[in-house]
Amino acid sequence: MSDWHDVATLDDLWEGDVAEVAVGPDTILLAHLPGRQVRAYQGICPHSEYSLAGGDLDGDVLTCTGHLWEFDLRTGEGVNPSNCRLYEYPVRLSGEQIAVSVPTDGRPHYNRCRG
Ligand code: FES
Repeated sequence: MSDWHDVATLDDLWEGDVAEVAVGPDTILLAHLPGRQVRAYQGICPHSEYSLAGGDLDGDVLTCTGHLWEFDLRTGEGVNPSNCRLYEYPVRLSGEQIAVSVPTDGRPHYNRCRG
């Protein structure tokens, strides 16, 4: 089971921006990619829990400030290293409103990976 949560608007999150929002125990990274594509992933880095919203977004690739791991925010796949994937939340756009679907099991959702 999961619930939809309004977390931001497109006016809050311009194209090329990332932001961090919290829903219950989940810290969520929002990314507005070119072409009105909005994605939502775990907000903490799967390596060592730095905030991914503090990273550097270049096109579709986010570089974590912690130890420079890179993630493709179109897919959530690791670029470097490539064996690590971000947990992804479904996103729904209704006009300007961004909503994210979060499981209702009461625990945070994220993947962890070894370097
Ligand atoms: S914490 Fe993100 S790369 Fe290490």
